[in-house]
Amino acid sequence: MERYTLETLISAGQLAEKTAELGRQLTLDYKDKDTVFVGILKGSFIFMADLVRQVKIDRLEICFMMVSSYGSGTRSTGNIIIKKDLENDLAGKHVLIVEDIIDSGNTLTYLKKYLANRQAASVRVCTMLDKPSRRETDLVPDYRGFEIPDAFAVGYGLDYQEHFRELPDLCVLRRDGEQA
Ligand code: IMP
Ligand code: MG
Repeated sequence: MERYTLETLISAGQLAEKTAELGRQLTLDYKDKDTVFVGILKGSFIFMADLVRQVKIDRLEICFMMVSSYGSGTRSTGNIIIKKDLENDLAGKHVLIVEDIIDSGNTLTYLKKYLANRQAASVRVCTMLDKPSRRETDLVPDYRGFEIPDAFAVGYGLDYQEHFRELPDLCVLRRDGEQA
């Protein structure tokens, strides 16, 4: 069996404080706009649930898409497949993509264009975590919780082979023998 160690990088308390701060800013920016938060499954489900309870926006719709990028290994590619699309009408509405983490930026670069083509009034990105050192596109998130180093993170919705999403803290996962 593969063995791992988990080391806390960002505690549940720090994540909660940051979510509240992002919620205050989003309330200021969106409170009187027709707004659609679009969560990207599966990783964003916990962040979305926390974030929407920290905003006060009069006309807020919450929905989810599921996407995956095909290609080999753990790196994402620019080839994105939409596994579950939105049913909501976005015309004239302000869209905020809610993501767990931005790595290469390939997924969101594609999705921003895709959603803008549906006549949204604006499309912005809010991510809890950002690994800018791994970027392959010029994507810059409009709202961001934490910048993290190039390490594999799990917990707070993020998985390694579908496990560890339920951990309340954000942890770095190291396989035994891997350097810190
Ligand atoms: P991107 O297209 O490379 O920016 O891919 C971002 C997606 O890759 C995220 O939504 C995650 O699903 C996944 N991902 C990137 N880095 C990590 C990580 O450290 N842990 C878990 N999933 C990750
Ligand atoms: Mg994801």
